[in-house]
Amino acid sequence: MALDSFDSAVDGLLAEAQASLQSVDSLEALEAFRIQFTGAKNGALKSLQKLLGAVPPEHKPAAGKRFNQAREAIEQLLTEATDKVSQASSGKPKSSTGPLADPTLPGQRPRIGVLHPITQTLEHLKEIMGRLGFNVTEGPEIEDEWHNFVALNIPEDHPARDPLDNFYLATAKTNLPKSSTDPQPAANSGGADIAARLLRSQTSTVQIRVMESTPLPLRIISLGRVYRPDAPDATHFPMFHQMEGLWVDKNVTMAQLKSVLRLFATSYLGGDVNVRFRPSFFPFTEPSVEVDYWWNGQWIEFGGAGMVDPNVFRAVGIDPEQWSGFAFGLGVERLCMRRFGITDIRDLYRSDVRFLRQFAS
Ligand code: FA5
Repeated sequence: MALDSFDSAVDGLLAEAQASLQSVDSLEALEAFRIQFTGAKNGALKSLQKLLGAVPPEHKPAAGKRFNQAREAIEQLLTEATDKVSQASSGKPKSSTGPLADPTLPGQRPRIGVLHPITQTLEHLKEIMGRLGFNVTEGPEIEDEWHNFVALNIPEDHPARDPLDNFYLATAKTNLPKSSTDPQPAANSGGADIAARLLRSQTSTVQIRVMESTPLPLRIISLGRVYRPDAPDATHFPMFHQMEGLWVDKNVTMAQLKSVLRLFATSYLGGDVNVRFRPSFFPFTEPSVEVDYWWNGQWIEFGGAGMVDPNVFRAVGIDPEQWSGFAFGLGVERLCMRRFGITDIRDLYRSDVRFLRQFAS
């Protein structure tokens, strides 16, 4: 074969490879490109090598040099094609065995979700209270006035029952089906409209439900959402969580209440936490206290507590001469904020994963 003809074959091959490179846009096309031009059996370079054998000996050195240049050019095109496909498919899962696998590249860290700080806190609180012998129980978020107010000794004219301070359900009286858990009109319900429904404003509702249905003695906690039309600020939100505790037995005392809350607080917040009881009033406990802890140079209230009021026992058919008990209700968000160093409750509910991710357990 004349040197001119060999040179033309080289030029044709390089032009073809250049053109083919344009259409390489997938792993399959890349592999087809590789086989077409560098395949060991029938690749275009292999065919060119055969033509080289037919070049007269005096032109062999020049033809051999052109062949080597052509091979390098094709290999360079193959590298370019590989990079092109690699960039196009970055983000898509790569074959671990295919030609694009590069074990020297750093791996891609899988994005695994984390539990919301409040979910973590709820689990942690259950675990601590479980160790103190409290069983976990649940109650509905849509409540009736009997469980939210009447049985809790909150009279009709109490400010806590103001419709403006609660989320009453507009359709409650007519549309909700009667269920087996609906309250039975109690003799001392004072004629309250027990069919009205509202989003519960406190987990103390569960105290009533548990005492209505559980044999004594009992020791429970109940954690869940409560709703109040409070204006959001750094420490208030219209939806928040409470942990309710109730211990009913013979001869339960205020000293036990204080011990349990102090044990709980030191276990959850750490040994250096400073807790105080402040005299207060709740219609369903007597005496009543507010429970505060010291944080950032000030006392922060994190709950209310007290001895179960005899009227509450009577409302659920328990003899207050025989039984005694204490109850408490703690704000879960405030506990969570204290532990994680969160200074604004609203950050918990902005759903900003960059913020929430920081609290991966
Ligand atoms: C009660 O809700 C009583 N049921 C607590 C109780 C239970 C007293 C059993 C006696 C016996 P209070 O309204 O103070 O109490 O709320 C309790 C805690 O919920 C507060 O101390 C606070 O930590 C938290 N809390 C109240 N309102 C909000 C709000 N808008 N946002 C976030 N946390 C709140």
